[in-house]
Amino acid sequence: MVDVELRGVKKNYGPVVAIQNLDLSVEKGAFCALLGPSGCGKSTLLRMIAGLEAVTAGSIHIGGVDVTHVPPAKRRIAMVFQSYALYPHMTVRQNISFSLRVAKAPKDLIERRTNEVAKMLQLEQLLDRKPAQLSGGQRQRVAIGRALVREPEVFLFDEPLSNLDAMLRVQMRIEIAKLHNDLKSTMIYVTHDQVEAMTLADKIVVLDHGVISQIGAPMDLYLSPENKFVASFIGSPTMNFVPADLKQVDGSTAALDLKGGGQVTVTTRKGPAKKNGGLELGIRPEHVGISAAGAANSNLPGTIQIVEHLGNATIMYVDTPAGTIVVQDDGDYKGKAGENVGIIFDPTRCHVFASNGMVM
Ligand SMILES: Nc1ncnc2c1ncn2[C@@H]1O[C@H](COP(=O)(O)OP(=O)(O)OP(=O)(O)O)[C@@H](O)[C@H]1O
Ligand SMILES: [Mg+2]
Repeated sequence: MVDVELRGVKKNYGPVVAIQNLDLSVEKGAFCALLGPSGCGKSTLLRMIAGLEAVTAGSIHIGGVDVTHVPPAKRRIAMVFQSYALYPHMTVRQNISFSLRVAKAPKDLIERRTNEVAKMLQLEQLLDRKPAQLSGGQRQRVAIGRALVREPEVFLFDEPLSNLDAMLRVQMRIEIAKLHNDLKSTMIYVTHDQVEAMTLADKIVVLDHGVISQIGAPMDLYLSPENKFVASFIGSPTMNFVPADLKQVDGSTAALDLKGGGQVTVTTRKGPAKKNGGLELGIRPEHVGISAAGAANSNLPGTIQIVEHLGNATIMYVDTPAGTIVVQDDGDYKGKAGENVGIIFDPTRCHVFASNGMVM
């Protein structure tokens, strides 16, 4: 069942087009991530769903009801902001219970809900403190608690973890995943962090300049990006792109001449490729191998420039006639800077992009 639906939604700020004619449906209980670079319109979209921003055109439906002109307080949504936006002069208890007190809920209900939420978020020991006496992660939990207490139909999160350090971010990410498992509420989560989107969401909406670039399950986007924008946004280290020309096509099999003289034969995704130049071969660092220099099966010659040992993986930056290729190998890989090597592309993991950026 669809819970949140946007139909033909547009948003202009004067001459700035923030969202262009966007359609989206989010199923009840789904965890949907809105992912994209800064300025692509993520917050604008979320704020329109929340009712904090009016739409320029189109309509918004929550739980089957057209809420386009319904004020935020009546939309059965709760929003968690990046800045937490806690009331500094109130205790944790007062912050969490604020919306219920404003709504003049009965005292015993306020107390029961506040205690339940505090227990769920492990804030019981902190209920009498003020926000200034909390760590960043604790403040973020209070901000989530304030949303939880309202028992909303839909949770909206706008980059809730971006002010936290890396370790805390991972912990809170797991807390949010647990919360979603427990509550089974619809959640829409804005982030520019592809790892957060990949790990939390069952559906990712990639936004590019106010337009949906691709919608899919995390692994669909990783394995089958429809365009270069999605291909380069998902995955870390990012996908390598090598300029290429089409030499020969046979059905969906394409032989490519790589810049600098290398060659590779790959299976394209969208049937026969048009015979034209100006293509790009895309391949992720984890799908590039290293061979001895001059090995018959290598696609390009190269020289290792930099080796990064991450413990669980080794990242190498290899200079080739086609530009720098990033290679990810096992943690104990023994390659050294200055070494001449061969580069091997896994032909089953290659993506071919046309000059307009669309996958072929
Ligand atoms: N009140 C406003 N007036 C004019 N332009 C605005 C306003 N709010 C946002 N914009 C513009 O709309 C576009 C989308 O902004 P938005 O805040 O939705 O981006 P975002 O994807 O959330 O970015 P970030 O990751 O940096 O938070 C941007 O170009 C921004 O400059
Ligand atoms: Mg934003």
